[in-house]
Amino acid sequence: MAKVLVGQLLGSEEIQARVRELGNQISKEYAGREVLVVGILKGAFVFCADLMRNLTVQTRLDFMAVSSYGSSTESSGVIRIVKDLEASVEGRHVLLVEDIVDSGLTLRYLREYLEHQQPASLKVCVLLDKPQRRKTQVEVDYTGFTIPDEFIVGYGIDYAEQYRHLPYIGLIGEE
Ligand code: IMP
Ligand code: MG
Repeated sequence: MAKVLVGQLLGSEEIQARVRELGNQISKEYAGREVLVVGILKGAFVFCADLMRNLTVQTRLDFMAVSSYGSSTESSGVIRIVKDLEASVEGRHVLLVEDIVDSGLTLRYLREYLEHQQPASLKVCVLLDKPQRRKTQVEVDYTGFTIPDEFIVGYGIDYAEQYRHLPYIGLIGEE
């Protein structure tokens, strides 16, 4: 059965307010240091852009793209790097920015991958946390919102490559 947009979970204003708070908190904690923001494509691109505009510290930006989902709504647990970092993270203060932590498998993989490259520090910021579906424990330092086990879209996040353009977080369900 085709899945469609059935409602809204988080409004645009609510998201913007929370992203401002995260930006303030991160700016305070990194005061005097340069942050290397590593955004995870594609889902985190909108969050990453908004978060960076709320940072007052010096920044660099890089992206990685990983795949594990295809167009279904279940994590396969198999993570493949589709786009790697452009420059080394060694000695840098890395802030990994991801859209959602669900099973935790993607973030755990990325944490270990980056940790191996000896950054000066590594922290993780996610917009959305779905704790009910966790399969592995993974440390998250900054969380935008904790949400129930629902499939969501919008604000950069897709369902079968659709709905990324929505300025709010919407809910997907049966037609
Ligand atoms: P994990 O490896 O299971 O934690 O999956 C994390 C990734 O799954 C996220 O980066 C998203 O790309 C994707 N994902 C998890 N839940 C959703 C959802 O509700 N909507 C869209 N993508 C999701
Ligand atoms: Mg993703």
